[in-house]
Amino acid sequence: MGHKRVLWSPQPKQAAFLRRGEYEAFYGGAAGGGKSDALVSEALRQVHIPHYKGLIVRRTYPELEELMEKSLALYPRAFPKAKFNASSHSWRFPSGARVLFGSMQHAKDRLKYQGRAFDFIGFDELTHFTWDEYSYLFSRNRPNGPGTRVYMRATGNPGGIGHGWVKARFVTAGPPQTTLWEEVEVRLPDGRRETHYRSRVFIPATVFDNRKLLQNDPNYIDNLALMSPAERDALLYGNWDTFAGQVFAEWQNDPARYQDRINTHVIAPFRVPENWRIWRGFDWGYSRPFSVGWYAVDHDRRLYRIRELYGCTGAPNQGVRWEPARVAQEIRRIEAEDPNLKGRRVHGVADPAIFNDAGTESVAALMERQGVYWDRGDHDRMAGLMQVHHRLAFDDGGIPMLYVFSTCKHFIRTLPALVYDETDVEDVDTGGEDHIYDELRYVCMENPIAPRPGAQRRVVVWDPLDLEEGDRKLEPYAFYRRI
Ligand SMILES: Nc1ncnc2c1ncn2[C@@H]1O[C@H](COP(=O)(O)OP(=O)(O)OP(=O)(O)O)[C@@H](O)[C@H]1O
Ligand SMILES: [Mg+2]
Repeated sequence: MGHKRVLWSPQPKQAAFLRRGEYEAFYGGAAGGGKSDALVSEALRQVHIPHYKGLIVRRTYPELEELMEKSLALYPRAFPKAKFNASSHSWRFPSGARVLFGSMQHAKDRLKYQGRAFDFIGFDELTHFTWDEYSYLFSRNRPNGPGTRVYMRATGNPGGIGHGWVKARFVTAGPPQTTLWEEVEVRLPDGRRETHYRSRVFIPATVFDNRKLLQNDPNYIDNLALMSPAERDALLYGNWDTFAGQVFAEWQNDPARYQDRINTHVIAPFRVPENWRIWRGFDWGYSRPFSVGWYAVDHDRRLYRIRELYGCTGAPNQGVRWEPARVAQEIRRIEAEDPNLKGRRVHGVADPAIFNDAGTESVAALMERQGVYWDRGDHDRMAGLMQVHHRLAFDDGGIPMLYVFSTCKHFIRTLPALVYDETDVEDVDTGGEDHIYDELRYVCMENPIAPRPGAQRRVVVWDPLDLEEGDRKLEPYAFYRRI
């Protein structure tokens, strides 16, 4: 009787991830929790089935190399006869099963996966992907033959271009480690509709899950604790509320203050006084969402976003494909019915691109025919960005120059999720869901304000010797002070 040698055994949280039966599972949060190791191991689950094909993706090739190295350390221990082909980045197992490593940085990279099927797809660092990229690979998640289990797995940390949709889909959609069901309506060839259900789950990671790492490197936690508060809360504690790279880190949404409006940007809706001016901002989109936002301006030039019309299918960053006339008709309907807009004069300002006519009538002209008029917005991106920052800044009494009605759900969802562009590091990454932000910029540029005296910048003040103050870790703003 021989005995089995333990090659790699999951730690308890990794085991919790590996044991899930849902179609999608996301293991995410703190850095160093053991997420990538678990993902690379998960791909091995069905390699005894000859026609099994697994795929593990990361966004860029250099990042992928790190994962392939993990596989080079792990796979031969379990399958000494498995062969790695360095040029095709794929493993072949004795049964004939394969596990492929792939990157997906550019739209053209999708072609690599076109027409192929993978029984298992694992995303490492899911927050580096857009929803489009993730959902594109759904279509490649099909069985290669009988008897395989077909499913998706993902791991990742807070922050990155996908922060917003990953947080909404997995982290805040329901309690952790609990199955969430998604309804999907399927149209059959004969026209009948069938409702199907798909399951998913979130497994939160913290660095404390990885005892092996902490044993090997007791200083690792200290390294994380020395980072800026936003980074530290994200990477050490797995906090999804703030993260490094977030453009509007000053954003506050505090339901407890919706009535007194202090230290919160989101507030309870109210009846707008008759003599406040009303603006309407517009960013056009067809396959991407369009965004219309209505704003009221009070006598201190403070802006209130009072109503929104966002052309999104329900899937992040996917447009409803309405023709300009239909958007205009919907605007007219809302302005006729909303008690805060009825009978008011509304000043429209839009992305200047809607005036372009490529041989056919421009979007602006098509809307004009329906009685909806726009001025050309000022699309100076940097000036617009600064105007939004000036407006979000709180004065000493906790009052900002921009408030948002709690009914503007899409604004509240997308604005805090915007991240900086990796190449143009001062600007917002336009790969994110930025249509509402763009429309807000046009309205802000029509109503420019000066920065608050003495409050141009909020700087992070932190004391590296004072990191253990329990509750503060969830309140990174306790560390902010104005200079
Ligand atoms: N079950 C395990 N047994 C032994 N070592 C492990 C185990 N799980 C993880 N480790 C080791 O801990 C370290 C961190 O693990 P891993 O890279 O999987 O973390 P991660 O959560 O993906 O981190 P990051 O957030 O930085 O991507 C690695 O060196 C890894 O090999
Ligand atoms: Mg990792």
